[in-house]
Amino acid sequence: MHRQTFYVTTPIYYVNDVPHIGHAYTTVAADVLARAHGMMGRDVFFLTGTDEHGQKVQQAAARRGVTPQAHCDELVVRFQSLWRRMNISNNDFVRTTEPRHKAAVQNVLQLLHDKGEIYRDTYEGWYCVPCERFWTEKELVVPGPYEPIPLEPHAAPPPSIFDCPDCGRPVERVTESNYFFRMGKYRDRLIAHIRANPGFIRPEPRRNEILGFLERDLGDLCISRPKSRLAWGIELPFDPSFVTYVWFDALVNYISALRYLDRSTPGSLFERFWPADVHLIGKDILTTHAVYWSTMLMALDLPLPRTIFAHGWWTVEGEKMSKSRGNVFDPNSFVEAYGADPFRYYLLSQMTFGADGDFSSDRFVGRYNSDLANALGNLLSRLVSMIEKYFGGTIPAPSPDSFGDWARVESAFPRSDAGGLRIVREAFPDEIPARYADLDFKELLERIWTAVYGINEFIDKSAPWSLAKDEEKRPLLSTVMFVAADQLRRIAVFLTPVMPAACGEILARLGVSAASRFEEAGGAWDTALAGKRVVKGVSLFPRIEVAKAGAA
Ligand code: ME8
Repeated sequence: MHRQTFYVTTPIYYVNDVPHIGHAYTTVAADVLARAHGMMGRDVFFLTGTDEHGQKVQQAAARRGVTPQAHCDELVVRFQSLWRRMNISNNDFVRTTEPRHKAAVQNVLQLLHDKGEIYRDTYEGWYCVPCERFWTEKELVVPGPYEPIPLEPHAAPPPSIFDCPDCGRPVERVTESNYFFRMGKYRDRLIAHIRANPGFIRPEPRRNEILGFLERDLGDLCISRPKSRLAWGIELPFDPSFVTYVWFDALVNYISALRYLDRSTPGSLFERFWPADVHLIGKDILTTHAVYWSTMLMALDLPLPRTIFAHGWWTVEGEKMSKSRGNVFDPNSFVEAYGADPFRYYLLSQMTFGADGDFSSDRFVGRYNSDLANALGNLLSRLVSMIEKYFGGTIPAPSPDSFGDWARVESAFPRSDAGGLRIVREAFPDEIPARYADLDFKELLERIWTAVYGINEFIDKSAPWSLAKDEEKRPLLSTVMFVAADQLRRIAVFLTPVMPAACGEILARLGVSAASRFEEAGGAWDTALAGKRVVKGVSLFPRIEVAKAGAA
């Protein structure tokens, strides 16, 4: 039995970064899940947002001579406008500088402090300023040989003998009095939870990675930063000389957006949607979610999310994206050139969700031309033209007895074992939603495309152009046109979560309204589509000429 509600989240992205393909990927996947579950009839809450506190924002704002808040207010628009452009259907957008979020973080901190889950201690460790985190000596890597620096008398020694394992920059030795969350005491409970719930951390290799991580001792988590070092954060409610560690602050977004403070109000967002069904994240931030967030929730006596899914990492044209390489992929120009739907389709069809992949413009153009322009787009345009030509633009009623009966129509379909008429009608209504629910995006798109190629083949083999020459074959021609149109209609319904605008357009050209439920694509042949007027229009996916692709 399905729950009636579905709550999906993306990470909240650092407001200081430019939105790139990685951010777009997680957000598109979350959007597809949200839309698919909505089409299964569930009440959906889809959250994304931005992570706005911390040293990097403070420093960037200072460099520009504006307040950190003004800086965030300006930069957040980049994310919000990209998501609009990409047809992202989030219900809410949380910013960690909003009062509702700050109040929730302070409430959580006070609760945990009152329960004795937070204590003060002195800590000495290696700290990476850009990454805003302490590292243990074991985790640190020894940097390569230094360039010989001509030593001046009394020159200061190199500031650090270690580099940060994450960003490669030198770490600093820092001694500080700070507040700590008793994370370590939840280690055994967390291991037991992961073992008992195989779907909690996905995919499987990531689950094993966290179980491996937990084999070692789990320390407590430093959750404060002295204001003397970092002012831009949420003040600890029990000690105003500290702000909250940015990760502790950020993770609370998943409940602050559900109005955590109103949690006891009957019918509140929190009551309806917590625990989250899926936290979608990249593999880079799995530990913070699977370990920090889970133990925070345990300390708060709240249920854990059902699934934390850590997807893989994109490289661009074979290289890791980085500002210094200057190859940070900006989705805006791509979406502008080719539309949101082809970009969404490519992101999900290119790699198995969970695995790593590479974005290449050439491969994008290849997939676009073969799958979208030639297969799907061409199917729509040839079908609409034929219905115009042979039936004056009205979808004809079928006459199955022209084939013998419906069973014969279905067996005339050449790909009956892979994506045949019967499969689309009978198996897809269960299979496709299940694959969406399982985040099996690549495979479900392959299944759907087998059916798209199948419809094209059905038309080719039935040869409407020769049936049209013989008045006696008109009933057969009607059946072929009706069946092809109805199959395409069903495919457009199943594909709506991935390409909402294009599928809405396909349905509109077949004279019907956009799909809101998968159910619309199942069931026996019925003639409801007959009599609808098709609409001719510009090519849905115009072919990309290679010279143009090079320019994007
Ligand atoms: O980590 N390939 O924010 P962030 C695939 N604020 N996905 C990628 C990617 C790539 N090359 N690069 C980034 C943060 N991502 C924190 C999160 S949550 C409480 C706080 C995606 O702006 C992926 O989802 O660095 C990754 O987890 C996220 O962007 C990191 O975004």
